[in-house]
Parts: sequence; structure tokens; C-alpha cells
Amino acid sequence: MPGDPNSFAQPKVYLCTHIHLDLEANFGTKTLDGHVELIVVNKEAGNHTLVLDTNKLDIRSVIDCKNDKNLEYVLDEPVGTYGRALKITLLKHSSQEGAETKIRINYATTPASLAVQWLTPEQTAGKRYPYLFTQCQSIMARSMFPCQDTPSVKITYTATITVPEELTALMSAVAQEKQKHSSCQGKNVCSFEQKVPIPSYLIALAVGDVESRDIGPRTRVWSEKEVVDQAAYEFADTEKMLVAAEEMLGPYVWGRYDLLVLPPSFPFGGMENPCLTFVTPTLLAGDRSLANVVAHEAAHSWTGNLVTNYNWEHFWMNEGFTVYFERRILGALYDEETRQFAFVGGWNTLQSEVNRLGSTNPFTCLVTELEGEDPDETFSSIPYEKGSAFLYYLETLVGGRDKFQSFLYAYIQKFEYGTVTTHQWRDFLFEYYKDDLSIFDPVDWNAWLHKPGMPVVHPKYDTTLSDACTALRKRWVAAQESDYPNFSMDDIKDFSAGQTIEFLSQLLLEDPFPLGKVQAMQTAYNFNATKNSEIRFQWLRMCTRSEWEESFPLTVTFITSQGRGKFVNPLYRDLYACPKSSLLAVDTFLANEDFYHSSVARKVRKDLGLA
Ligand code: BES
Ligand code: ZN
Repeated sequence: MPGDPNSFAQPKVYLCTHIHLDLEANFGTKTLDGHVELIVVNKEAGNHTLVLDTNKLDIRSVIDCKNDKNLEYVLDEPVGTYGRALKITLLKHSSQEGAETKIRINYATTPASLAVQWLTPEQTAGKRYPYLFTQCQSIMARSMFPCQDTPSVKITYTATITVPEELTALMSAVAQEKQKHSSCQGKNVCSFEQKVPIPSYLIALAVGDVESRDIGPRTRVWSEKEVVDQAAYEFADTEKMLVAAEEMLGPYVWGRYDLLVLPPSFPFGGMENPCLTFVTPTLLAGDRSLANVVAHEAAHSWTGNLVTNYNWEHFWMNEGFTVYFERRILGALYDEETRQFAFVGGWNTLQSEVNRLGSTNPFTCLVTELEGEDPDETFSSIPYEKGSAFLYYLETLVGGRDKFQSFLYAYIQKFEYGTVTTHQWRDFLFEYYKDDLSIFDPVDWNAWLHKPGMPVVHPKYDTTLSDACTALRKRWVAAQESDYPNFSMDDIKDFSAGQTIEFLSQLLLEDPFPLGKVQAMQTAYNFNATKNSEIRFQWLRMCTRSEWEESFPLTVTFITSQGRGKFVNPLYRDLYACPKSSLLAVDTFLANEDFYHSSVARKVRKDLGLA
């Protein structure tokens, strides 16, 4: 097996099996202070050197716990966004094959630690208390604690987190009963345990003035109190989703499935932190129309968290499979047409992403080569949409959804609690269908897995729900000025939010409209007033591409009131590309840079030529 090109760790020498975090959240200094204990097992007799990943950490001392002895260590020079290798010389007894060693590293994060975003009270809904949250995927766990920061290593963890007494700490684990520490005046001490082995990128922490509402037998939503009722309404179908997923994928092994709605700067739609999915408040549309993100994060409980991509070159094994199951869940909750409709939209997303990146761009391949790359820099919708389209294509070849289902169930059973590469998955597929292998004769494996650009096959999807969107798109594309008055709210009064999104995303694949046409669309549909973040996003892209100056303030408000990369990055790019607003893009970013998560800000910088 090859290693992980994005990590310094050497799990073939020492393998970490468990960690314990003991940290205090210090809002004054914007640091997490304390220690981490790691249990490592020797895999290569005679080798004394334990190599860990770190990035922007303040390492204070390393101790062998058994002997309470200080250990020698060196920190290598930083290498790009990979950070610095921490090389620890373990004691003699550690280097026997199979020997288990516990070490403690006293350290603190620094304000530059990329995984941690510290929010001022003004950046929260309540405006009274500060907030912090972490985001470790893909290679930022190493800026929260020294570790083997590669998804090929799975560990269990426990944690003790000390926070100011007004605040609550939450983690990607099961919370333990609160103990009152008389010695911790003015402090709140929260403990956690994750018994299922997970990769480092799934360790997550949030600290804030949060409340919760139970919405199911194993689910509560957490958020600042200002939005907790809205969140409870929005995500009311979560238990149904879990039940549907369990039917397809096997038992849910994580105990709790809670949801945390973060402050607006959270950089993703959702993040599948085990036991506690993190979501953006931009999902709170008021009509449950964006809850597919919860279906997606819930599906990761199996594809991603239970069966994990071996390294980031096989990221599609996480995301392509999860999009496939997200849509299976929607199919189970609604109907097959809804699932097919989601695939139609996914194909548009794939097409626009290939257009943006270029059809010969190596990062449009399903399996990527990430030597020397930062996986977050090469992030795109390709693994999501090419990956799920590929699985759908295989589904059609093996005789349909229900036939494919039995393979997928077996796949989870085969790889659960472990990791997987594309090639291991394909070997298992061939083994599973060994008596029937000719069904795969039509598949051009090399093209699907290793060639850039659009897939070689465009699967047939049912268009019942997208036909009306396509028809309306065609009417608008063909329309002359004299036709504008014929458009009205009637055109979309029967559309679901998803259909409006599909209509707009089809239009975004067309050339920009002349200004008069987008203005006519505003007159007909009043999209300026929409509260749905996905509709707002696509609409503002249309307006900007048509250089409609009156829309600029709306765009600025949108990209400075939430920090979701999916919305913020393209809109900054659009504003910057339009000569009338390129200065506005730069000024807006510079005035709001601190609002964004580091991963989002870094991309904007690059796109605006500021990097
Ligand atoms: N795990 C991802 C988010 C992620 C990917 C974080 C790569 C860091 C690096 C999460 O499950 C995800 O895919 N979120 C999507 C949801 C959508 C596809 C339904 C998002 O945030 O938009
Ligand atoms: Zn995902």
C-alpha cells in the first residue's frame, strides 16, 4: 500500500490507536491550552522515532507517561500548508514490535492555527459571548493537536474541555455526565468519549452559548437560542433519514446523531463530525427545502466515517458514495422522481465545474494525484458529482437500484471500521459479481477513474421534475424584449424550491443575459426578496454576470452576512470578473477578511489576485 502524500506521519513505524485531549479554551489569547496524550503501537522493531504532523502549534514538552520522563524531539522546518513534522525520540522499550507507549505532549494552539475559528461576540447571533469552532478536514487537525493526520489511521478518543462557565463545549463524540469541579471556579468542564475509531479529520469542537431541542429519539439540535426553534422545525425529518439509511447501510453505530447549527461564518453546508453534524445557518430556509444537506451528512455516518477514504486521492470514495446515498435517502423519503431530479441537478453542477476547471484539468479526474498539493486547494464538486454519477451508472448496469443495493450493503460490511482505496473497492465489486462479470463489459474504467473532463457516459435520468424547469429556461433564452411582459409569477407558482434552483442553475450554464432580461426576471419573479440561500446565490450570480449594478449591494450583504464557501467563493469571483465591481470585490473582502474561515479566505485571496 502506498502512503499518504499529504502527511508526514509514518503509521507503518508507529500506529496511533487512541488519543486523549485535555484543553482549555482561552478566548483572551485565542488559544487552546493543555495537552494531548497519544497511545502508539510499534510496528517496526528497533525504530525509536515517532513522527507526528503539526501546524502552527506551540509545542512545550513531550513526556513518556509510564516513566514520567522528558523525551527529546525536533520540529522540522514547515513545508507549505503541510506544517512541520514533529520527530520524537521514544525510549528504548517503545521500539519493540507491538510495544504500546503512551506519551503526553504539552502544547497550545496559536491564533494562526487554521483549524480553529475564534468569533467575537459581534459575530454571533446573541452578540453577548464569543464562540469558537474547529474544522479539521482535510489536513487541519494537525493545527489543533499533534497527530498522525492521515485518514488511513483510525483512533478512538476522549477529551476534557474547560470553558468559561457561561459557555458549553460540544464535540464529535458522546458527551459524558457533567461533573462539578469545585476547583474550577467560574469554569465549565465538559468530557467526551468517542468509542468508534475515527480518522483525525473528524475530531471537532465547538464552544458557545448554545441551547438544544430534542427532535428525535437520538437527535437534538444545538444552536444559539435565537435560531434553535427554527432549526428544530427545519430538521424535523432527521430521524426518518436515519431510519432510511439504516435500512440501506446497516445499523447506525454512533449512538447519538445531533446537529449543531453554527454561526454564519461556518465555511461549509455541513460537516459530518461523528455524533454531531455541523451545519450552516443558511440551511434555515423555513420550508425544509435544504434539508438534503442533513441527508448527506447523515449518510457520511456510513460512507466516510465508518468506511473512510484511505487518503485524499480517493476522496470520491467519501463524497461520491455519500451523494449517491443522500439521494437514495431522498428517494426513500419522497419518491424515485425526486432522486432522479437530484441527479439531473448534479449533472449541471458537474458540467459547470468542468467548464470552470477546464476539461483537461487533472483535478477533474475521479482519482487524483495529490503529491505536493493541498487537498483543500483542489477541492471541487467533481468527486461528488462524477463519483455519484458513476455509481448510478453501475447501478443501471447491474440491473437497477434494488439489485445494486445488496452489493452496497456488503461493501459497507466488508470495509466498516476501516479505510478503502478505489482499487480495493473495485476488486471487491468484481469479486461480488464474479459469476456475472460481463455486465461490466461496457465500463471504461480507465476513463471514469483516471481521465479528466466530463464522464464518457451520460446516464439517462428521469426528467419528470426537471422538464418544467427546462421549458421555462428555454422560454427565457428565446425571449425578445417584447416577450418580457408575458412572464409572471404564474410561471413558477407550482415550482418547488428545488425546481427554482434547477431553473436558475440551467440558466447559469448559458451565456449571461442582457441586463434588460435579468431586470425583467426580477419584475416577474422578485427573486431579490427570496429567503432561500441557494436561490439567492444563483440569482445574484445571474445579476452580477449581467453587470446589474443595483444588485451589487445585495451581493455584498449576502457575502458578508454568511461565510459558506460554496456561495462566497463564486460570488467574489463573479464580482471580481465584472469590471464595474472588481474594486468593490477587493474592498469588501479586505474589510471583512476576519469574518471568513481561513480556508474560504485563502481561496478568495487567490481569486482576487491578493495572494
Ligand atoms: N465533508 C464535506 C465537507 C468538506 C469537504 C470539508 C472537504 C472539508 C473538505 C461535507 O460532507 C460536504 O460535502 N458538505 C457539502 C454538502 C452538500 C454536498 C450536500 C457542503 O458543505 O456543501
Ligand atoms: Zn460530504
